[in-house]
Amino acid sequence: MGRERLMWAGMTTGKDDRALRRRLARRLIAVQEEQRLRLSRELHDDLGQMLASVALELHNVRAGTEGMDGRLERAAMLVDRLSAKVHDAAWNLRPADLDRLGLRASVEDLATMLCSQLGIPCEMDLEALSNPLPAETALTLYRVAQEALTNIGKHAQPSRISVTAHIQDDRMRLTIEDDGRGFDGRAELGPGHLGLAGMRERLALVGGELTVETATMKGTTVYADVPLAH
Ligand SMILES: Nc1ncnc2c1ncn2[C@@H]1O[C@H](COP(=O)(O)OP(=O)(O)OP(=O)(O)O)[C@@H](O)[C@H]1O
Ligand SMILES: [Mg+2]
Repeated sequence: MGRERLMWAGMTTGKDDRALRRRLARRLIAVQEEQRLRLSRELHDDLGQMLASVALELHNVRAGTEGMDGRLERAAMLVDRLSAKVHDAAWNLRPADLDRLGLRASVEDLATMLCSQLGIPCEMDLEALSNPLPAETALTLYRVAQEALTNIGKHAQPSRISVTAHIQDDRMRLTIEDDGRGFDGRAELGPGHLGLAGMRERLALVGGELTVETATMKGTTVYADVPLAH
């Protein structure tokens, strides 16, 4: 009897623990989204503006001697590159404008931007994303698409990308596929790689699941499956 009660108590604690962990994880994600917004604004509004002013000064100022003018010109070019990087970082950090644009247009924007940066064709069929989804699920799919596309830009060197969404039964599947370098999916990832793990954790919080199919030099396909109602 005592033993039974102990086990029962243990199970309750386990369940409570899980509920607490989920609540904490949700809160963490909300804080993360707030921080992204703040950082994105600071980068864009403060740093971005100041860098633009410095670049303007540097492009206009002339020292009069050939050597010094060359150095000023190089400094101006470096500041231009720094400005572009700050702009990209602010763009990547900015919160999803899902309320205004909707999930479909937001994901289309992400894919279009990456493909134009890489100069490659992008196949899209995202009609299914126009279906209503719980807000948390929509934001999760947006962040998954963002990370998967960022990974393609950073690691894949593809010649084409495809981003599609389909509904089957009561689940939505977002598929992001590239024909790039792929990777060894079984290899242990070091501590510096948070993207895939983050996608997996965020999807689990909305009852979803991440599947990655990949092989070296054979491209990568990322599937994000979520329930339509959560
Ligand atoms: N589409 C892809 N094509 C080729 N390799 C990929 C692709 N996606 C992920 N990888 C490989 O998987 C690794 C882990 O990806 P993950 O997103 O977890 O980390 P990361 O991109 O290296 O760093 P982080 O996302 O934390 O900035 C990458 O370092 C890369 O080697
Ligand atoms: Mg990544």
